[in-house]
Amino acid sequence: MELIIQPDKHAIATLVADSITALIDRKPDAVLGVATGSSPLTVYDELARRYEAGQVSFARTQAFMLDEYVGLPAEHPQRYRNVIEAEFASRVDIPAEAVHGPDGLAEDIPTACRAYDEAIAAVGGVDLQILGIGTDGHIAFNEPGSSLASRTRIKTLTGQTRRDNARFFDDDLNQVPTHCLTQGLATIMSAKHLMLVATGDHKAEAVHQLAEGAVSAMWPATIMQHHPHATVLVDEAAGSKLQLAGYYREAYETKPAWQSL
Ligand code: GLP
Repeated sequence: MELIIQPDKHAIATLVADSITALIDRKPDAVLGVATGSSPLTVYDELARRYEAGQVSFARTQAFMLDEYVGLPAEHPQRYRNVIEAEFASRVDIPAEAVHGPDGLAEDIPTACRAYDEAIAAVGGVDLQILGIGTDGHIAFNEPGSSLASRTRIKTLTGQTRRDNARFFDDDLNQVPTHCLTQGLATIMSAKHLMLVATGDHKAEAVHQLAEGAVSAMWPATIMQHHPHATVLVDEAAGSKLQLAGYYREAYETKPAWQSL
């Protein structure tokens, strides 16, 4: 796992966008894994800016979402499908049919979840997965206690996550769904490159556990320690509890020029 401590979210977004544009350069039909939450928003801003400037095209890419709330009406602005459309897809040239997400309105949820994992496998897997992290260490919606071998399935959201996300629902906890569909930890781990973004001191403990804690279902993001190509990009605040911060900085500063992220 590579830890990169940057001054702010814009510096982080530049590095993630660099990796995505380099990937599309060498593989124009790349499969991107897209995440919701506030953490990736500056990445989407930077990708939209580069698309507008003619520096990258998403015309042949596909995008797979990490998760979706169960039961939100199709037109609800916080339905993750609509969030990804507004924040990313509508701002670049990715075709509408190339954006995929778990169906939170499916009548047969187990079948829909299986079909989603199969759809990811059918395109050869995700090449680069963007991730945020919850304050309780969840990635996608794999809450503490999630099986480290899980595949896409329904999960119950924790009270902590529902409180964290109430800000997107008029600060009204009652409006926050209780369930979601989420790629499992094994599904996420099958992506070829994981890039996790975290900013702010409320993420510091989760980032410390992710990189330096024991691998455990109690901090689901710790599974990333088993990934052969995981990059974690944090600002100073989110990196403030890292025990080996000095070493990570030195490793990044002295990184050979030929070695990409
Ligand atoms: C939600 C999403 C996660 C995201 C997390 C953190 O729970 N399902 O994918 O990582 O929020 O969100 P934020 O980046 O807004 O802190």
